[in-house]
Amino acid sequence: MNKAFKEITKKRRSINFFDTDKDVPEQTLINMVDLAANTPSSFNLQPWNLMVLRNVEEKEKLQSLAWDQPKVTEAPVVFIVLADKKGWEEGHPIFEKNWKEMLKSGSMQTDQRDWFLNATSSFYNWSDDANLAFAAKNTGFFAMSLMYAATSLGLETHPIDGFDHEAVRKEFKIPDNYWVPVLLAVGYKKPGLELHPGKWRKTYNEIVVSF
Ligand SMILES: Cc1cc2nc3c(=O)[nH]c(=O)nc-3n(C[C@H](O)[C@H](O)[C@H](O)COP(=O)(O)O)c2cc1C
Repeated sequence: MNKAFKEITKKRRSINFFDTDKDVPEQTLINMVDLAANTPSSFNLQPWNLMVLRNVEEKEKLQSLAWDQPKVTEAPVVFIVLADKKGWEEGHPIFEKNWKEMLKSGSMQTDQRDWFLNATSSFYNWSDDANLAFAAKNTGFFAMSLMYAATSLGLETHPIDGFDHEAVRKEFKIPDNYWVPVLLAVGYKKPGLELHPGKWRKTYNEIVVSF
């Protein structure tokens, strides 16, 4: 077992109280996102984006739409995590970049374009739910990577889905192709904060099922 990874999974906790005097350096944030960018995704389409909020007024607006949870303003940085429901679509800049990269690496040939278009469309575009599932599952993996990356860099995080989705979309002018699976508060633990013992987790036998 890799001890470092075990420590990271144990150390990551959802932190309710952040140090309001300690900012996250820009380079640390970039390192965190760069690490999380290694997340796998369907056809490597990487259908995620982040809005990075540092500005107090913006965070106050967000807090008012997120059950008034104080951690939204107490954390120096809050990500609005965006899941791109159209990330599989022909013409999307990342879809096209991905295609070019696959040609460059030789993992696809020019004459496989129709196959690729048909594959992504038939997997992810047979219903609105399929669009959403594509975006949400991939971006969920990315969000988890962000949290572990943050832990590895000495940062603390708190995922938040207690918010008014449509109000957040409207307030922050988020285009319709995005669903917002989660907000992520990022910062440092409030000095002197004593954490409760870690929460219970399902065991192997509770997780594994058969039908
Ligand atoms: C997608 C997601 C959304 C969450 N939303 C909230 C939230 O809105 N408010 C909150 O206090 N905790 C929220 N949590 C934190 C969970 O309660 C927490 O992860 C869980 O109790 C386990 O605790 P731990 O993260 O410290 O291990 C959320 C967690 C996840 C993964």
